Amino acid sequence: MNEAVYGLGEVPPLGVVPERMLAQLIRAERFGEPKDAFRIEEVPVPDVGPHDALVYVMAAGVNYNNVWAAMGVPLNVIASRQKQGEREDFHIGGSDASGVVWKVGAAVKDLKVGDEVVLHCGSWDLADPHVVAGKDPMLAPSQRIWGYETNWGSFAQFTKVQAHQCLPKPAHLSWEAAAAYMLVGATAYRMLHGFSGNTLQPGDAVLIWGGGGGLGSMAIQIVRAHGAKAVAVVSSDDKSDYCRELGAVGVLNRKNFHHWGMLPHWKDDVAYGEWLGQAKAFGRAFWEALGEKQNPAIVFEHPGEATLPTSVFLCDTGGMVVICAGTTGYNATLDLRYHWMRQKRLQGSHFANDEQARGLNELVAAGKVDPCLSRVFQFAETGAAHQLMRENRHPNGNMSILVNAQRAGLRTLVESR
Ligand SMILES: NC(=O)c1ccc[n+]([C@@H]2O[C@H](COP(=O)([O-])OP(=O)(O)OC[C@H]3O[C@@H](n4cnc5c(N)ncnc54)[C@H](OP(=O)(O)O)[C@@H]3O)[C@@H](O)[C@H]2O)c1
Repeated sequence: MNEAVYGLGEVPPLGVVPERMLAQLIRAERFGEPKDAFRIEEVPVPDVGPHDALVYVMAAGVNYNNVWAAMGVPLNVIASRQKQGEREDFHIGGSDASGVVWKVGAAVKDLKVGDEVVLHCGSWDLADPHVVAGKDPMLAPSQRIWGYETNWGSFAQFTKVQAHQCLPKPAHLSWEAAAAYMLVGATAYRMLHGFSGNTLQPGDAVLIWGGGGGLGSMAIQIVRAHGAKAVAVVSSDDKSDYCRELGAVGVLNRKNFHHWGMLPHWKDDVAYGEWLGQAKAFGRAFWEALGEKQNPAIVFEHPGEATLPTSVFLCDTGGMVVICAGTTGYNATLDLRYHWMRQKRLQGSHFANDEQARGLNELVAAGKVDPCLSRVFQFAETGAAHQLMRENRHPNGNMSILVNAQRAGLRTLVESR
């Protein structure tokens, strides 16, 4: 018989789906600081469609997107879904997870109840003409990030995903480590390997902003695994060793420079001249950190407004600045003279498709990319974990939350009963 609700870690018999579950909910009336926005409530377990899977969540990863969801900016994710016809007046976030497949839809092949999986967060309408035509689904009009743009993410005992989002859990990892890497890792993988004409080549120099962060820690390792050379940027010297251990050949401290923010107008000789002097000094520091006079073939960008002018300035002739966020602001300013004469590329990027997520997962399974798990939280601390991230006070690497896993270090369902 199905029980109405099981406690955290009170594992139901395999495949038995309770009526209700515990979840960390965000509601519009609580939008604001993440520490106050999340609250544990009891909600019905969602049903799955023919191509979906219901996954029993062992651990969930912490990402910046649910800092935004908690604050209700730049998008009220609940109102946005209600406009599209969904009824729920809450958001269950969480775009990274490890767990066990508990139920599959009627049309699902290649996945069965009991499979131990990690989840990637790319979802799209399988009937979308763009997807049916075999084009990159990340460019499809129906593409949505699971656990941010969709409801029923991983901060709950059960999560609803499309079956193609499930990938084999690397056996050597604990649940919490397996939940930590996919969103940032697959995003970094696409940025470095996904744009034909500017894909990562062995020997390339790559500039990586935020080398100690979630994206940066993954990017450094992917670059090293491909025989290329990463130079990481950090804001404190204590992060330098961390980046070197991950494989960075050099590290720069951005606090030694002060030209951040939007580019001064080119007609303002004094301000522009000062900016150019700093940008050139940063470029010389890059060569020194790299150990040779070579500009970055790829600049791995996400701070945005504060750093983009420098990224474009430093990028090699014919190189690419690839950007997936604007954490410091959304105004991109650049000196077009350098951009066109040196034929640089400014490329937007967003998460990853199935193939890219698989590519990253294989690097992790082979031990070439470590999840960089730095801190593990209890389920009740979901808001506190996101608050740390909002304040840039979180540790290097990635954080995760134990959901149904009763303690850290467990790796299989059998061990977790
Ligand atoms: N589009 C996508 O698919 C996608 C996927 C993943 C993440 N993202 C976005 O990417 C951004 C970073 O994510 P994350 O998980 O890597 O976050 P994170 O772990 O907080 O790392 C961000 C790093 O940025 C650096 N940083 C902070 N302020 C900076 C500034 N003013 N100038 C230069 N660097 C600065 C910090 O390093 P230092 O202080 O040491 O420099 C920090 O380690 C977030 O906005 C996130 O939402 C987008």
